Amino acid sequence: MELAQGTDELAVVAGPAGQVETEVLAIPVFEADDLADLDDLDAATGGEVRRALASGEFTGKLFEIFWCVVLSGSWRPRRAALVGAGPRAGFSTERLRKLAAAVGLAARQRHVARLAFVSRGALEAAEAVQACAEGLTLGEFSPAQHKTSDLPPAPPSLQIVHPAASQREVRNAASRGRLLGECSNLARALANEPSNLLTPRVFAERAVAIAEDAGLCAEVLDERALAELNMGLFLGVARGSDEPPRLIVIRHEPPGAPERPVLGLVGKGVTFDTGGISLKPADGMERMKDDMAGGAAVVCAMRAIAILQAPIRVVGVVPATENMPGGRAIKPGDVLRSASGKTVEVVNTDAVGRLILADALWYAQQLGATHLVDVATLTGACVTALGKLTSGLFGSPELWVEHVRRVALAAGDRAWPMPLFEDYAEALRSEVADLVNSGPRPAGAITAAMFLKEFTGGLPWVHMDIAGTAWLEDAKPFQPKGASGVAVRTLAELPFTAGRWPV
Ligand code: BES
Ligand code: MN
Repeated sequence: MELAQGTDELAVVAGPAGQVETEVLAIPVFEADDLADLDDLDAATGGEVRRALASGEFTGKLFEIFWCVVLSGSWRPRRAALVGAGPRAGFSTERLRKLAAAVGLAARQRHVARLAFVSRGALEAAEAVQACAEGLTLGEFSPAQHKTSDLPPAPPSLQIVHPAASQREVRNAASRGRLLGECSNLARALANEPSNLLTPRVFAERAVAIAEDAGLCAEVLDERALAELNMGLFLGVARGSDEPPRLIVIRHEPPGAPERPVLGLVGKGVTFDTGGISLKPADGMERMKDDMAGGAAVVCAMRAIAILQAPIRVVGVVPATENMPGGRAIKPGDVLRSASGKTVEVVNTDAVGRLILADALWYAQQLGATHLVDVATLTGACVTALGKLTSGLFGSPELWVEHVRRVALAAGDRAWPMPLFEDYAEALRSEVADLVNSGPRPAGAITAAMFLKEFTGGLPWVHMDIAGTAWLEDAKPFQPKGASGVAVRTLAELPFTAGRWPV
């Protein structure tokens, strides 16, 4: 298995632009840009830059791209691509990351072999270069994993141009961004994989390969081990399928790490969600192959955490199973017993992410987690509430949620907090067991999170509902259709912020 689609080093060079050894030089240009630093480029293109801006052919609107030929014989790049960076006000690493990805995608479509991206704009050097590296790497991703014809062109080789290129911090930022981009792409490839090829067993095998290649210790628990642990919720969900479930467990234990904190990352790993006996409608059901995107994010974040040598202990736990309506499937009204001892009346067999996560959250505590973060394509209700741009954030205490929100925002994974008032728990009351697994339609994302909360043992915990953000229905200039790789970078950055965690 290929662990990264683009594995070449990503060099950072200082310039000047005319001396960069490349085919295409890409330069962000703002709306109403003063062009003060682009006189040389304008001259090298025979005045094309100023002409295009004056005529309105190029305006600097976000993601607009204007290609022009470099005429000057003393310049190495043969062409330039001006990339619309939008208004200068509000320019951010988030926008820079997307610009870099958009240019990478566009250059690839044009069969460009070598691309150099100029980091421009008033951002701190290392942050800017990391964002460029992430974006350019994300732009290398192609969802054409199984095509045998109409293959997309190979992505170009990449460089970043930044005046501070000689600083060690800046070069480190480039390799950090490169790695985080590659790990995001790896998660996207897993989530895009169809369910016949990525069964729970295959997912577990791939996870072990991804983890061990990064020097991590990985373990896979089979159905017998899960039965010994009394994971009745997880095993209950798996009953409907002929494919056996697997629990993927990955540990990062750096020598000399403090005893605590221990970050517990838990990801939903439903390799296909039919809804079970509460069967989903056929229309669009093919997308449910990505119901393991949270699990993929955890596995791939663990890889980044190991390679970047995060200073604290981290455990990753991913329950992997299909949700199928087989002859032995759980049926509405069935009662299951969790590993923690709580009983659950399953009133809807489509609401099972929370069941497998409940047992996995419990297991992360058994492994010593002191802080929990789970990531899951959990509810359509979250998509209704926040759309496809923002993940839902839930949890307690508020300071821990706020910390994760900030890390997510900086990593390019927008997320926003939703309330977990105690009264919402009324929706989960069962007449026959401790809880039902699904409440009425209103506040469906919140009641799902309230259910998870019952299994967090009172630890600081954040739940990220990525149902809306894990998958792009329509291609964007910076991202093709399909899996987005959301949450990988957030999870990977979190252990590096441990010094700022609220206690
Ligand atoms: N995988 C779905 C959630 C989902 C919906 C993800 C749409 C992406 C897009 C989840 O397992 C599910 O089926 N949730 C149900 C829960 C309901 C039955 C309480 C839902 O949201 O409809
Ligand atoms: Mn479901």
